[in-house]
Amino acid sequence: MKKTHNCSELREEHVGQHVRLIGWIQSIRDHGGLFFIDLRDREGVTQIVLDPKCEKFSEIHSLRDESVIEIVGHVERRPDETINEKLSTGMIEVIAEDIVIHNICEPLPFPMEDAKAEQVNEDLRLTYRYLDLRRRASYRRLLLRHKIAHAVRNYLDANGFLEIETPYLFKTTPEGAREFLVPSRLNPGMAYALTQSPQQYKQMLMVAGVERYYSLARCFRDEDLRADRQPEFTQIDLEMSFIDREDIYGLIEGMLTIVWQDTLGITLKTPFLRMPFKDAMNQYGSDKPDMRFDMIIQDFSEIFKDSAFKVFAEAIKNGGVVKAFNASKLACLSQGEMKQLEDAARVMGAKGLAFIKAENGQWKSPILKFLNENEKNILRERLQIEDGDIVFFAAGEWEKSCNILGRVRLECRDLAIKHDILKIAKDDFKFLWVVDFPLMTFDPEQNRYVSTHHPFTAPVPEDIGILKTHPHAVRGQHYDIVLNGMEIGGGSIRIHQPDVQEIIFKDILQIPNDVVDTRFGYMLRAFKYGAPPHGGIALGLDRLAAIICGTSSIRDVIAFPKTQRGQDLMTQAPSQPTDKQMRDLFITSTVEVEK
Ligand code: AMO
Ligand code: AMP
Repeated sequence: MKKTHNCSELREEHVGQHVRLIGWIQSIRDHGGLFFIDLRDREGVTQIVLDPKCEKFSEIHSLRDESVIEIVGHVERRPDETINEKLSTGMIEVIAEDIVIHNICEPLPFPMEDAKAEQVNEDLRLTYRYLDLRRRASYRRLLLRHKIAHAVRNYLDANGFLEIETPYLFKTTPEGAREFLVPSRLNPGMAYALTQSPQQYKQMLMVAGVERYYSLARCFRDEDLRADRQPEFTQIDLEMSFIDREDIYGLIEGMLTIVWQDTLGITLKTPFLRMPFKDAMNQYGSDKPDMRFDMIIQDFSEIFKDSAFKVFAEAIKNGGVVKAFNASKLACLSQGEMKQLEDAARVMGAKGLAFIKAENGQWKSPILKFLNENEKNILRERLQIEDGDIVFFAAGEWEKSCNILGRVRLECRDLAIKHDILKIAKDDFKFLWVVDFPLMTFDPEQNRYVSTHHPFTAPVPEDIGILKTHPHAVRGQHYDIVLNGMEIGGGSIRIHQPDVQEIIFKDILQIPNDVVDTRFGYMLRAFKYGAPPHGGIALGLDRLAAIICGTSSIRDVIAFPKTQRGQDLMTQAPSQPTDKQMRDLFITSTVEVEK
């Protein structure tokens, strides 16, 4: 190594030693006659003292911050009054004897101090991602992510898992997310799809007798992007043979316990809570409930079935529900904030957002005139309505009403935090398993069933008999792991019987026979050659890392993320291929491009 020490290493015991440090200039200060350089590398900062009589002085003192220099010098104890206890190297300084300039930095596009840089437009930081990553806060996030991956690998290795790479160039699969296509030069007119996940390959590894597979797998999905969604992201992907759901829960709880211990020094309580999908929807209006606060949703269908408020009575008559929750202490919301909540409800398909406000000893509501004393008493009692509270209602189809209130509940969380009514501690981690999902969900747009998870998920064994007759009632052996309102992982016990898999593809999902044969034929065949019962799970490594780093965007924990439009601003990808490249791949574009 060129350097003898890193920039956070030198202590009093090194006084008198000759050292060589290399790093970036964090700042240069002129203290009348002496110059001080804060020299920084990824580990820390060391103060360098430069005598103006030094031969290179004139070159150095005009160098801009972030230039790279090498210092040869000796370590001295700092005079008492200049000791800096906040710095690990604050007891010493290095008196420069020789300096080499390795790289002169141009004027910076944005300030490098974390507090200032984080105010800077993200697009600018992504364009200069190498500078953005050089900041202390960014490095710390990369380090934490590395530690997570390291802990995961050690844990899975210790549990008998083999790390196996599977292809990224796969074939297109219906029934999943939108895929990225890669035209094949060697097979004119054909295309690969980039893997959405190693799902089918990991199942083939089970048929191959591997028994325990894992991989930190890159997955590609051409979806609309959000703070928690990237077009390429990483899964901690694993699959096991001869297990049931409980084995997966135990394995993952053990893994996350070690990850939290190694990164945050926090001991998690296991086993995690398990909640049926129905309960999650009924009580939290979401299949990924945030359990760090209450505002529990309740059902009032029975109470309002003969309501004078037609919206409620009609909803129930049509087989729907009336649900409500108490956003306690939020009667103080402004008009604008109420509008914000109503808009959120409308996005989820609500026609309106009925409410009751309890303020100054009175209830106020556009629907109050329709409520009788009995209904009011039941509401007051069950929702424990007190002065200062506000109650929100949704009436209509069950799933939609749940989703509407679930969304409003999260908006209320954010508003309550803003108004200092609710506090959520940074180290509050509420894990749970959401279980007992329906295997199939009816999609009115396609007028057919679609898999709730994916088509390889096994039905609960007792329900196999009613697969063809009552598909909506079949429970799937699927599980999601949820943390603080975010889905951090999901998986299932898989189908390993070819006949059951065929029923799912052909009878339930109504995929035409020839499509099943071309897309999944190999899989049905494989299941006829000794397929072990198996199951697995994939955790979103980016989402886990974001939560552990305390950031709300997974872009912060990905070294080179894409923007909302799927662009890499640093390298300017995607870009236009040349005509020759297009010809070689046998493709033509239908887009009119300006020449
Ligand atoms: P699933 O599609 O639920 O399951 O994905 C598993 C986990 O991956 C994360 N995730 C994402 N993270 C960032 N950006 C995205 N676009 C994105 N999409 C998903 C989530 C999610 O919980 N093969 C199955 C797993 C299995 O059955 O074993 C699968 O891919 O945290
Ligand atoms: P209306 O009688 O249509 O003016 O509705 C009275 C109140 O009920 C208004 O506050 C609406 O926003 C609200 N509302 C209308 N439809 C629903 C519904 N399906 N669920 C909950 N609230 C609703």
